[in-house]
Amino acid sequence: MPSSTLRVAFDRRGSVHDGNRAAAGRGPPYGLSLSAPPTMNDDPIAALTSLEAAGLAAFHEAKSPADVEAARIEFLGQKQGKIKAAQERLKSIPNDAKRAYGQRFNAVKMALEAACDSAKSRLDRPESVVGGIDVTRPGHPLPKLGHRHPLTQTAEELIDLFGRFGFSVARGPEVEDTFHNFEALNIPAVHPARDPSDNFYLSEDTLLRSQTSTVQIRVMKNQPPPVRVIAIGRVYRPDEVDATHSFMFHQVEGLMVDKGVTMADLKSVLRMFAQSYLGEDVKIRFRPSFFPFTEPSVEVDMMWHGGDRWVEMGGAGMVDPNVFKAVGYDPELVTGFAFGLGIERLCMRRHGIDDIRLLYQNDARFLAQF
Ligand code: PHE
Repeated sequence: MPSSTLRVAFDRRGSVHDGNRAAAGRGPPYGLSLSAPPTMNDDPIAALTSLEAAGLAAFHEAKSPADVEAARIEFLGQKQGKIKAAQERLKSIPNDAKRAYGQRFNAVKMALEAACDSAKSRLDRPESVVGGIDVTRPGHPLPKLGHRHPLTQTAEELIDLFGRFGFSVARGPEVEDTFHNFEALNIPAVHPARDPSDNFYLSEDTLLRSQTSTVQIRVMKNQPPPVRVIAIGRVYRPDEVDATHSFMFHQVEGLMVDKGVTMADLKSVLRMFAQSYLGEDVKIRFRPSFFPFTEPSVEVDMMWHGGDRWVEMGGAGMVDPNVFKAVGYDPELVTGFAFGLGIERLCMRRHGIDDIRLLYQNDARFLAQF
């Protein structure tokens, strides 16, 4: 066995070292250090084994990348590392023992390099523990803290549905001027709809808009035909508050202008919308009505789920030529339809809510149901 051969060989050499150490212990005669202190294990193979054990322990116990680096320098360092020293020692090993020493040396060196690598990969990653929290752990889903208000849900659904019919969303201000709220909509100064008791005036010529039809004007003044938009938003009217009325509510306004748009298009769009929102069995009915900005004008009624009562959903009609003139469209070239539906009414029908005030009181017990 090579190892036993080695042991004998090194035992012999060990005794030589012992002699040296004894001499060194006595102290050099001229006050000079004549030999390196015998820090190495006298048995070179045993020295490798304890070097290996010490190195492995250092890497295993490393608690930070800095610890690993310190251990790497101590054991694997190119200049002063203990492995380097163990390699140097090969020179002094007798030839017949060199092979065995070399093999063991290689094994130890590989083991320490592997331990160094694994310590590095164990510690050399972003600090996973930050202030006691392991930020790399998968998160816990948050408890459901809330959801959108039923009116907002309805508005989003309307945007989605009309979006599929090619309508984009337009916006306008809630504080409006009388031109957009009245004049341009063919409601002259003497018209009773402008009465101060029917509107929230802020000054002589500004008010909280009483209808989203104002956005029709803003859109058409801003772009040439064709137009296909909806506008959703709040409107204000000094109505007595009860189960079906509020001084503020929401409307969805629709406007489509193009060559050859007819009342049939209006009815089709509203029916498709009603079927999508309220169900396939919806029936839709137009009743003759009057709005200054549409001619002809209709009230839109709907009935669904085999009900026996028509429910008024809003107003609609073909855009009055005077409105086209006010925004600079040529009424000989284009026609269009417009409609305005109450969003509260749609939302209440959909969910079976019987009092409009519930939508504004923000009672969590009520809102949690939708
Ligand atoms: N703006 C009208 C209202 O508030 C509804 C409407 C819109 C009627 C568009 C016709 C066309 O009652």
